Amino acid sequence: MVETVSSGRFQYQRPDFKRWVPAFLSSHKTFFTVLWIAAFASVFLWQRSSIGGGFALAFWRTSYRPVPRLRPVAFNLTDFGGVGDGVTVNTAAFERAVSAISKLGKRGGGQLNVPPGKWLTAPFNLTSHMTLFLAEDAVILGIENEKYWPLMPPLPSYGYGREHPGPRYGSLIHGQNLRDVVITGHNGTIDGQGQTWWKKYRQKLLNHTRGPLVQIMWSSDIVITNITLRDSPFWTLHPYDCKNVTIRNVTILAPIFEAPNTDGIDPDSCEDMVIEDCYISVGDDAIAIKSGWDQYGIAYGRPTKNILIRNLVVRSMVSAGVSIGSEMSGGVSNVTVENLLVWSSRRAVRIKTAPGRGGYVRNIVYRNLTFDNVRVGIVIKTDYNEHPDDGYDRTAFPILKDISFTGVYGQGVRVPVRIHGSEEIPIRNVTFRDMSVGLTYKKKHIFQCAFVEGRVIGTIFPAPCENLDRYDEQGRLIKHSVSQNLTDIDYDF
Ligand SMILES: *[C@@H]1O[C@H](CO)[C@@H](O)[C@H](O)[C@H]1NC(C)=O
Ligand SMILES: *[C@@H]1O[C@H](CO)[C@@H](O)[C@H](O)[C@H]1NC(C)=O
Ligand SMILES: *[C@@H]1O[C@H](CO)[C@@H](O)[C@H](O)[C@H]1NC(C)=O
Ligand SMILES: *[C@@H]1O[C@H](CO)[C@@H](O)[C@H](O)[C@H]1NC(C)=O
Ligand SMILES: *[C@@H]1O[C@H](CO)[C@@H](O)[C@H](O)[C@H]1NC(C)=O
Ligand SMILES: *[C@@H]1O[C@H](CO)[C@@H](O)[C@H](O)[C@H]1NC(C)=O
Ligand SMILES: *[C@@H]1O[C@H](CO)[C@@H](O)[C@H](O)[C@H]1NC(C)=O
Ligand SMILES: *[C@@H]1O[C@H](CO)[C@@H](O)[C@H](O)[C@H]1NC(C)=O
Ligand SMILES: *[C@@H]1O[C@H](CO)[C@@H](O)[C@H](O)[C@H]1NC(C)=O
Ligand SMILES: *[C@@H]1O[C@H](CO)[C@@H](O)[C@H](O)[C@H]1NC(C)=O
Ligand SMILES: *[C@@H]1O[C@H](CO)[C@@H](O)[C@H](O)[C@H]1NC(C)=O
Repeated sequence: MVETVSSGRFQYQRPDFKRWVPAFLSSHKTFFTVLWIAAFASVFLWQRSSIGGGFALAFWRTSYRPVPRLRPVAFNLTDFGGVGDGVTVNTAAFERAVSAISKLGKRGGGQLNVPPGKWLTAPFNLTSHMTLFLAEDAVILGIENEKYWPLMPPLPSYGYGREHPGPRYGSLIHGQNLRDVVITGHNGTIDGQGQTWWKKYRQKLLNHTRGPLVQIMWSSDIVITNITLRDSPFWTLHPYDCKNVTIRNVTILAPIFEAPNTDGIDPDSCEDMVIEDCYISVGDDAIAIKSGWDQYGIAYGRPTKNILIRNLVVRSMVSAGVSIGSEMSGGVSNVTVENLLVWSSRRAVRIKTAPGRGGYVRNIVYRNLTFDNVRVGIVIKTDYNEHPDDGYDRTAFPILKDISFTGVYGQGVRVPVRIHGSEEIPIRNVTFRDMSVGLTYKKKHIFQCAFVEGRVIGTIFPAPCENLDRYDEQGRLIKHSVSQNLTDIDYDF
């Protein structure tokens, strides 16, 4: 394969527009004259009609966004026979490109440019030291027929496919045991065409768990930026047992209803991860931090830790903006969520777990959260009873503690807080400071608590539950609560 791409192929990085120009325009003077006329004509058309305007703008955008070279060697998917017509299946082209790049590791790796077009493909694997660059208007389309989706063993920390026992479908874009992988672009799109999967799932026509859109496993030094991910069959972006992952400036979209389990990003048994500057609006949790499921997750024993999530705008009408759990059996610690806006959603932030999970959720910091028109703001739920099988240990109670909320704002919230601990899973050391949330209904019992111990520093609105100790702004104890186990939970509103 390397032969077909050697000899001057790497020089295609010069500005795109040159390639459009027929050979007879080789003189620079003629070329620029023609370009000038084209520009003039475009502006003229743009002023005359909106259709012409769209054309002119598209012309200018493509001509002025040359693809940067981010690796010593760069390929174009078309070099490997790719056809971006939305019909041709490009799996072999992607595989050949990845194979060529896999030989370049020692030389700094390779970049695969996906030009504008619709590039239909079955699932394929990435390789180390690879940059996948999606040009503006480049769309990688996941093939809809599940026969093209290979089956893979269940994740060890889940024991099962998440929806069916036994194997599961792999992801459209997959990677295992990799280092130094970048997926980026000029906001090109990876589109899973999930509609057919969601429909088959609802009609119970699938025998295996649906595949994620992008899944990177047992890997490190992963960067995913400046792209759009949409309509995943299942979870959208699933980093599994990875280290050093950065996700920045990514848009993740799926319908807010009837796109089951289309979580946005699921950091799972990962450490050292940053998710920032993203917009996520999907059919399940925008983010769900996980670490394995019941006895399988406990045995696998890989926690998620050191996660920073900031500057996000998220929406979830079915589940929550940012979740931890419900699969958290390997433990979750040191998570910071800051500068988060959750809009028109069912829940804003949620920690969910159940007896049988084991593990822990601790050292969790929420800072500067804004809830705009959400039904329930902050939720901690300890009876999320969804188990892989009957083999779970009913006495494996998770530990939930050291959770703080500083700066919680918003409007149009029905229940600002619902912390539902239990005798077996009490929630310890929760702190609230600086909270002022506009309510939908001015009712009592909207700050709902059960089996929670902790404190409120300063004055917050709405008034907190009796379970929490009160401190003044200077941190002096005003009132010690004697009713941590008081239960005031009302799911009816
Ligand atoms: C890739 O090749 C196609 C067809 O030759 C060309 O139109 C496109 O401009 C190339 N893309 C890049 C980024 O060079
Ligand atoms: C990707 O790699 C994994 C692990 O080596 C393998 O099991 C899977 O079949 C590969 N998938 C494809 C589509 O080649
Ligand atoms: C985000 O990505 C888009 C392209 O997808 C780019 O135009 C924009 O400048 C990026 N923003 C930041 C802050 O990196
Ligand atoms: C990227 O594309 C998505 C989907 O078309 C769009 O919603 C988003 O605003 C774009 N992002 C940037 C930074 O242009
Ligand atoms: C599921 O299994 C049934 C029975 O074995 C089979 O008829 C059907 O084709 C399978 N469906 C898929 C999507 O593999
Ligand atoms: C994390 O990954 C990035 C991107 O590959 C790399 O530049 C950085 O050195 C890595 N950090 C550590 C601590 O390995
Ligand atoms: C994302 O886009 C921004 C703005 O164009 C750019 O500064 C940044 O380098 C891009 N990120 C990557 C990894 O290319
Ligand atoms: C907690 O996570 C942050 C990243 O969000 C990291 O910088 C910090 O070192 C971690 N703290 C500990 C104690 O590991
Ligand atoms: C708080 O978050 C909002 C976005 O939700 C942001 O606009 C604002 O700048 C943040 N405030 C601080 C102090 O960082
Ligand atoms: C309670 O949690 C806070 C962080 O929210 C931490 O600083 C403090 O040490 C914890 N208190 C105890 C007694 O563990
Ligand atoms: C609350 O319940 C926990 C067990 O969940 C128990 O350890 C604690 O003593 C109880 N506290 C009060 C004040 O009754």
